[in-house]
Amino acid sequence: MSALWYAVGMVELSPKEVLAWHIEAGADEAIGDEPVDRFAVHEAAVQQAKEQRATVASQPDAMPPRGRRSVVQDVHQSPQEPASRSTVPQVSGGRAETAVHTAVSMASAATTLAELKQALMDFDGCGLKRTATNTVFADGNPEARIMFVGEAPGAEEDRQGLPFVGPSGQLLDRMLASIGLDRTSFYITNIVFWRPPGNRNPTTDEIAACLPFVERHIELVDPEIIVPLGGPAAKTLLGRAEGITRMRGKWFSYATPHMQRPAHAMAIYHPAYLLRSPAHKREAWRDLLSLKDKLSELSH
Ligand code: URA
Repeated sequence: MSALWYAVGMVELSPKEVLAWHIEAGADEAIGDEPVDRFAVHEAAVQQAKEQRATVASQPDAMPPRGRRSVVQDVHQSPQEPASRSTVPQVSGGRAETAVHTAVSMASAATTLAELKQALMDFDGCGLKRTATNTVFADGNPEARIMFVGEAPGAEEDRQGLPFVGPSGQLLDRMLASIGLDRTSFYITNIVFWRPPGNRNPTTDEIAACLPFVERHIELVDPEIIVPLGGPAAKTLLGRAEGITRMRGKWFSYATPHMQRPAHAMAIYHPAYLLRSPAHKREAWRDLLSLKDKLSELSH
């Protein structure tokens, strides 16, 4: 076999070593039969996003309010808890700030879920998009009373373009079936819309670039109940510093100026965590019962 050159370090690598290097960098599976020139795809997307920005900028009324989401703990649950914290993640600098600004403009201009999905397809401010196969927007019933928000698509979600269809999604479906919910009665999405390479955690900049779309997503679905799945989704949506172990099972009130009324929000453990730590299924079961009670309380 002929040797290949890895240009950055100018180290001679065998094809097997090149493959190992790719796997280590997160490119751990083949996602298509034909090679894709990602640079060409990127250039086209940049051009499209520029055109989109120009359209949005020419409609100043479409510019959004930013950072006016409020999250407070339901007072009857725990009167001592402080109210809202800042919910806008700190981004690392100029380019990340521009991406957030563009995301805010594009997301707030969307008046339907179809428009929001299109805006996301046109958005080029999140680097994860360049390595992902599909944009993973949502699944389930957008008319549902309850909306689940996970962290980030995994390998199977990236392949199918749908959230929570891999092993943790299958566990989640079984958990929710136990309280009478299925994908016709709930809606589900993530705080980032593209799979992080190698399933690493999304960075603060990546989450910040997606957040305006997530917030608009929630506004357009207008659910009665929002359920962040796991720590990163809970921290991002509820804007609180504590970990999931302390946050789970507590009810909060989530509101933005564009929601018709605040939604009730309660974080639960991520199903991937429960797959790794089944001992915590007991607490998860308690939280599921609390969700079921809240749904029936709100029906009366
Ligand atoms: N984990 C998530 O947080 N989201 C998915 O869509 C799949 C796994």
